[in-house]
Amino acid sequence: MALPPAFLDELRARTPLPALIGRRTRLERTGRQWKACCPFHGEKTASFYIYEDHYHCFGCGAHGDAISFVMQSEGAGFMEAVERLAGEAGLEVPKLSPAVAEAEQHRHTLSGALEAAAAAFQRRLLLPEGAAARAYLADRGLTEATIRRFGLGWSGAGGAVIDELARAGLPPALLTEAGLRRPETDAGPGGAFFFNRVMFPIRDRRGAVISFGGRVLGDAKPKYLNGPETPVFAKRRGLYGLDLARAALRERAPRPPELVVVEGYMDVIGLAQAGFAAAVAPLGTALTEDQLGELWRLSPAPILCFDGDAAGARAAARAALLALPLLAPDRTLRLAQLPSGEDPDSLVLTRGPSGFQAVLDAARPLSEALYDLIREQVGEKTPEQRASLRHRLEEAAGRIPDPALAREYRGVLLDRFHAARASRRPGGRPLPPRPPPRAAPSEAIAATERARILLAILIHQPGLYADVGPALAGLDLPAPMARLHHALAEWTETAVHLDSGALMNHLTATGLSSEAARILATPALPLPAFASDTAMPGEAEAGWWHFFSFMHRDRLDAEVAAAQRDFAACPDAATQRRLIALSAAREALRRGEESETAP
Ligand code: UTP
Ligand code: MN
Repeated sequence: MALPPAFLDELRARTPLPALIGRRTRLERTGRQWKACCPFHGEKTASFYIYEDHYHCFGCGAHGDAISFVMQSEGAGFMEAVERLAGEAGLEVPKLSPAVAEAEQHRHTLSGALEAAAAAFQRRLLLPEGAAARAYLADRGLTEATIRRFGLGWSGAGGAVIDELARAGLPPALLTEAGLRRPETDAGPGGAFFFNRVMFPIRDRRGAVISFGGRVLGDAKPKYLNGPETPVFAKRRGLYGLDLARAALRERAPRPPELVVVEGYMDVIGLAQAGFAAAVAPLGTALTEDQLGELWRLSPAPILCFDGDAAGARAAARAALLALPLLAPDRTLRLAQLPSGEDPDSLVLTRGPSGFQAVLDAARPLSEALYDLIREQVGEKTPEQRASLRHRLEEAAGRIPDPALAREYRGVLLDRFHAARASRRPGGRPLPPRPPPRAAPSEAIAATERARILLAILIHQPGLYADVGPALAGLDLPAPMARLHHALAEWTETAVHLDSGALMNHLTATGLSSEAARILATPALPLPAFASDTAMPGEAEAGWWHFFSFMHRDRLDAEVAAAQRDFAACPDAATQRRLIALSAAREALRRGEESETAP
């Protein structure tokens, strides 16, 4: 205890138990001791005995000294009881050092109680009673380091943890307020909220425990139980894993990991163990506005990666619609699509980190993914469905408050709508259904593939970077490619000879040789001739703009205009080449669009 033992001894010595207890219950002498009817449980014959320095009830087991008598009979905390008794005994309570006083007070706050509970659950996991839970976690592939990192524990089979915490001086009312104990009701006495469950402490953004999720070991329902709402815990505000994600995003500042939002606690943990250190999950509810706000404090475009099933698709659509009224240039979302039947945890277990990285690399910006999300909810087979789809698309764009952004979204969504209509035969039976739900990931892969080609050209022809760099900087590249782009940009600023060999040396020195190799050689998808190391610079540049214009149609006009301005100001051969290549790319794109929509 924080108070000096000598003081506590003095206090006990000056507090005769019979006098203290005699105020509560009538005492009768038995030899040298006193006995009484127990003040803690109703009884007619005395089984409560008072000795020199302690009392004991042979009926209900109540036991303790003067201080615990005051605590038990009046529901007082330890310090409160000491102060009361000291006042009566004419003793002054020694002042605690500020640090000790604070620690003592903290123990009696909600977060103190929650921390004590987390520690108790963790300890129980390591005891023999935790063996089944340990086996369960090991079976799910978690290492001991991961279990420690997330503070996982075992609830115990019954209410033992509650008793343990109460014995440590935490009043039952505090345990109830912390969401660890069910309050007494007419139906029955209060008891432990969690039992027979693996315990997942839920922490706030600074790492303080605010509640728990508990999972059954088998298939019983409910699979997960979350603590009730309390003054420190609001399910709709917190995010599981937020503290660790925040730390990871800070620590690895130059190359922060992607912020990924998943559905389940085990997904967060499985991803962290696989090296994706910035994953978070909502707390058993759909994603809320508050949670989106929390995410955007950490990243301008977090990736939603919900389960590859109907529920996951619904959750993604819901989150996307929720985000629309809040969108801004630095507040958007990306959506990743998992193979059907998989969740992030199962995917890293079966396909390893690279399997999940591929899913992240193929994540699509909200503007691209939104059409498919809405179409999947509404359908597009019948005229009624198509009318409703169109209505929903307009409505979605209308939710965006920024007028310019709303216009852009409306344009993208309706273009997709018309393109889908144009691909049906006029008047006749519709074409055999394209595989539209699958079109989404393949489109994302195509975008990744185009970005790969842009970078491949630059690896072979680094001299082009001066011209195309600004355009490339505006693209939303998948993380590994963005790193390579960054290294390339840095290198061109200082390199004397802009040749491919020197660049490769630099990439190797910055740890990017394997990413560069991946870009240059993917056997399944050979590079086009103009992206190979034998292409002529002019050919390479034309190819670069061609692919760029596919990725970013919306930026093409601005690039052409910039090239025209540059050429007017400084009509050199390089600027002319760039202008010609850009104009040609724009032409090719227009022709392509005409033939796409022609009947
Ligand atoms: P899932 O069932 O997808 O979770 O529920 P999971 O993490 O994949 O579960 P396992 O352990 O691998 O089987 C997603 C989330 O929904 C909440 C929990 O927050 C869970 O992490 N949930 C789920 C509940 O609150 N209660 C439930 O009964 C089930
Ligand atoms: Mn799972």
